[in-house]
Amino acid sequence: MSKTAAGKKLLHDLGYRLGQTLGEGSYSKVKAATSNKYKGPLAIKVVDRRRASPDFVHKFLPRELSILQMIRHPNIVRVFEFIEVCNGKLYIVMEAASTDLLQLVQQLGKLPCVPEARDIFAQIVGAVRYLHDRNLVHRDLKCENVLLTADGRRAKLTDFGFSKEANGYPDLSTTYCGSAAYASPEVLLGIPYDAKKYDMWSLGVVLYVMVTGCMPFDDTHIHSMPRRQKKGVLYPEGLPSLPEPCRALIAQLLQFSPASRPGVGQVAKNSWLKGDI
Ligand SMILES: Nc1ncnc2c1ncn2[C@@H]1O[C@H](COP(=O)(O)OP(=O)(O)O)[C@@H](O)[C@H]1O
Ligand SMILES: [Mg+2]
Repeated sequence: MSKTAAGKKLLHDLGYRLGQTLGEGSYSKVKAATSNKYKGPLAIKVVDRRRASPDFVHKFLPRELSILQMIRHPNIVRVFEFIEVCNGKLYIVMEAASTDLLQLVQQLGKLPCVPEARDIFAQIVGAVRYLHDRNLVHRDLKCENVLLTADGRRAKLTDFGFSKEANGYPDLSTTYCGSAAYASPEVLLGIPYDAKKYDMWSLGVVLYVMVTGCMPFDDTHIHSMPRRQKKGVLYPEGLPSLPEPCRALIAQLLQFSPASRPGVGQVAKNSWLKGDI
């Protein structure tokens, strides 16, 4: 029996049935699944250690697994089980979502600022607050990593592949991670960075993308991105005007200087986000 067939048989023996592919990354594939053990639709992230880089296998994957086991929050994807197979495959069994935030934005062009974008963003902020309060950082916050329920109303953060524990303060990170389009100037410049403030920048990009349907900074020429980021964010011409408190929040998050960006606790108290104004 081939190794792939052996993996499939093991999953089958454990009561899982794999369905269509929901998403694909560099070293993993996410498949729809059902099981006779858990009710409701499941998703199984299949990670192939044999095809992955040594850094991924020895550094990032162990962190992803240990952090996933530590966390439980209504706006973070729930993981039920990890299955290790001796053929190098690892299966992460989790609850399934219907779509992700990138797909939703692409489908609708952009999201109505209030209540849709605001309500989804408030949930993402809740999840990041939970992490930062426990000294965990995500470092790959982007629309593709925010899953959504079928009605598009409940958001669940996923993909802890670059997450880590930030021990003490200041604990500066040096690893370049995430996607350039969501990366802060200090990360792009290769300066040791405060990973929580990096997450705050990426949150600003996520909010901007939701309400405009565009990326705030074009990442075709990465070397010139920090210069453009320093000038401040621009909005596409002809975009219907956004509520001032929403623009103000984006501007705060996309501050060039990490020290000037608010912490997640402060953002959680933002009156526009809470629906007070
Ligand atoms: N639980 C899930 N339910 C539905 N779709 C998912 C789920 N997990 C991941 N996906 C889809 O698969 C994609 C890749 O998953 P992710 O965990 O982000 O892997 P990678 O580390 O390869 O980026 C996501 O962007 C999303 O579209
Ligand atoms: Mg991802």
